[in-house]
Amino acid sequence: MNKAARGSLLGIEHLDAKEILRLLTLARRMNPLKPRPLLRGKRVLLLFYEPSTRTRASFEIAAKSLGAMTTLVLSSGSSIEKGESLLDTGYTLRAVGADVMVIRHPHAGAPLLMATHLDIPVVNAGDGMHEHPTQALLDAYTILRHKKTLKGLQMAIVGDIYHSRVARSTIHLLSKFGARITLCGPPEFLPEVATTLAPGLHITRTVEEAVRGSDAIMVLRVQKERLAGTKLRLQEYISRYQMTMARLKLARRDAIVMHPGPIIRGLEITWEVADCPQSVIVEEVHNGVPVRMAILANALGKAS
Ligand code: CP
Repeated sequence: MNKAARGSLLGIEHLDAKEILRLLTLARRMNPLKPRPLLRGKRVLLLFYEPSTRTRASFEIAAKSLGAMTTLVLSSGSSIEKGESLLDTGYTLRAVGADVMVIRHPHAGAPLLMATHLDIPVVNAGDGMHEHPTQALLDAYTILRHKKTLKGLQMAIVGDIYHSRVARSTIHLLSKFGARITLCGPPEFLPEVATTLAPGLHITRTVEEAVRGSDAIMVLRVQKERLAGTKLRLQEYISRYQMTMARLKLARRDAIVMHPGPIIRGLEITWEVADCPQSVIVEEVHNGVPVRMAILANALGKAS
């Protein structure tokens, strides 16, 4: 087995703060409205084994804004349906000329497996319950558009944290910069070893405690089928954990409301909160493009 190709982005856990800041600084120099042919002639392969709107569209626009060609392969309608393995699919896509591969997969470790066998950089677009590093980077980028620093930032994360690769990557990232993170959700939705997961991490029983005095609130999507595996009924979840204007008022006046999407209005968040002036949910999506431009430029050695 080879080491992952230089430029691969497989997770946040093993990146240091300097590397994260370098990518965020590079993202600030990227402007999709002013395309630059930095990646002209390069082929970006988008391999998605799971549904996606934001990640897929923003990677495609990011690649094209840098002059690259893109090819999208979905598990449905491809030879994956005929039983082709992950690695054989990777070898095939490399053979047709992929220069970088962006992969989303339901199993943790799928991007790492691909990266250790292919001689091209691999970017993790979300793998199982493991990591979603590009989402964490665009979220850090978004926070830094509103707050001076991540150090000391008080972040509340509410919802299904246990199953969330976004939460995992975000916790890794923010804790590297000295943020204070509070997790809140039903016990079945909380990590079992949260206190050892990262320094500066706390769990509260109520949303009110989590949100009080926070600078940023990240609301996570709740899947109804996962809720069915808890002791809570839908209405109980809504009454205990839904982000409402009354709860938002407990945060700092300049607190921002985040959500990686897709949002389920009326379940984890009210319509009013989703659309209020403190909500940066649409801005997060918008910022996904320059951040993914930076990640692709970095993957292909064009970061300088
Ligand atoms: N946040 C996120 O990954 O959204 P998509 O599933 O739509 O890509």
